[in-house]
Amino acid sequence: MAEHILLTGGAGYIGSHTYVALIEAGYEVTILDNFQNANRSVVERLEALTGKPVNVAEADVRDATTLGGLFSEHQFDAVVHFAALKAVSESVDRPLDYFDVNISGLINLLRVMDAAGCRKIVFSSSATVYGVPDETPTPETAEFRAMNPYGQTKISGEQILGQLAAADDRWNIGILRYFNPAGAHSSHMIGEDPRDIPNNLMPYIAKVAAGELDELQVFGDDYDTPDGTGVRDYIHVEDLARGHVLSLAALLGDSKNHLVNLGTGIGNSVMEVVAAYKRASNRDIPSRIVERRAGDVPIYVAKADKAEEVLGFRTEKSLDEMCASSWAWIVGPHSQEEPEQ
Ligand SMILES: NC(=O)c1ccc[n+]([C@@H]2O[C@H](COP(=O)([O-])OP(=O)(O)OC[C@H]3O[C@@H](n4cnc5c(N)ncnc54)[C@H](O)[C@@H]3O)[C@@H](O)[C@H]2O)c1
Repeated sequence: MAEHILLTGGAGYIGSHTYVALIEAGYEVTILDNFQNANRSVVERLEALTGKPVNVAEADVRDATTLGGLFSEHQFDAVVHFAALKAVSESVDRPLDYFDVNISGLINLLRVMDAAGCRKIVFSSSATVYGVPDETPTPETAEFRAMNPYGQTKISGEQILGQLAAADDRWNIGILRYFNPAGAHSSHMIGEDPRDIPNNLMPYIAKVAAGELDELQVFGDDYDTPDGTGVRDYIHVEDLARGHVLSLAALLGDSKNHLVNLGTGIGNSVMEVVAAYKRASNRDIPSRIVERRAGDVPIYVAKADKAEEVLGFRTEKSLDEMCASSWAWIVGPHSQEEPEQ
């Protein structure tokens, strides 16, 4: 029988792509999501894409009763935990909400899993745990530096999981530190669907290319980088989804805990991404250089070889493919559907 995976936050951007990858890999999957940052129509699109009904539990990861009920109804073999709040600037304004969902939500989930005897979890962490790193490309051994409450929640999540694994070796834990996820599914049926003004560069550029936003503000062109603009390690969301399948397979196999960066190891500047998106969309993307933004890091690039050694993971898709798939999603029929509440 197929192993059964619970995907918290599975209706979101990375979760929905991972859902498809897990179904393709032969797993049975149940999504738990409260749809606070996802459109309910994603469920129908996932059904169309996979040709199978989607099991969805609409619930909050902080709701122990509902979560407990779900674990008594199903025998889950592992959990992939995406459900979290993720906007850095919002976390500065509303830190308690971030601590509540991202930290209390995680503890609640772990307690329910422990009681049910399900002790394998893949955790969504982020390169943000490195703050301003001393070393680029940044290895997993770089120290934690919280720059904002969101980053703090990812550090705390990793520490809670690390101490849990140390206390009880029945736990198998995979911690994946994503760099900058970008792009959309090759079917163009799912993609990044930000509710408000996008926080991340590529969806912002996409809206400028589509004429929904007037211009891109580039925060600083005087960093110590080749063209002076910030450099990031963009990873195609389908590569990222495959990384989760590999992490899960390792936990369900004989591998114990692992902690890896998921990135390409290649950095691209803001202006390089703008140029790539212009090529993909054949649209003008007006941009204007403005002051540096407080707290921005000049360069974030993963040291990517540990994921290859531990999981056999290597990225396959280029920046041009990220831009082309993002644009196909943006101009397709699904990206502009009204969010439901
Ligand atoms: N996108 C990025 O740039 C990025 C980078 C590094 C790490 N991450 C992490 O990856 C994970 C997924 O990110 P994403 O980009 O897919 O975000 P997303 O907002 O698209 O997905 C998160 C999902 O979780 C759901 N959710 C939020 N709070 C919930 C709650 N209390 N109970 C149940 N469901 C809840 C949302 O409705 C959404 O569907 C997050 O943990 C995020 O912190 C994202």
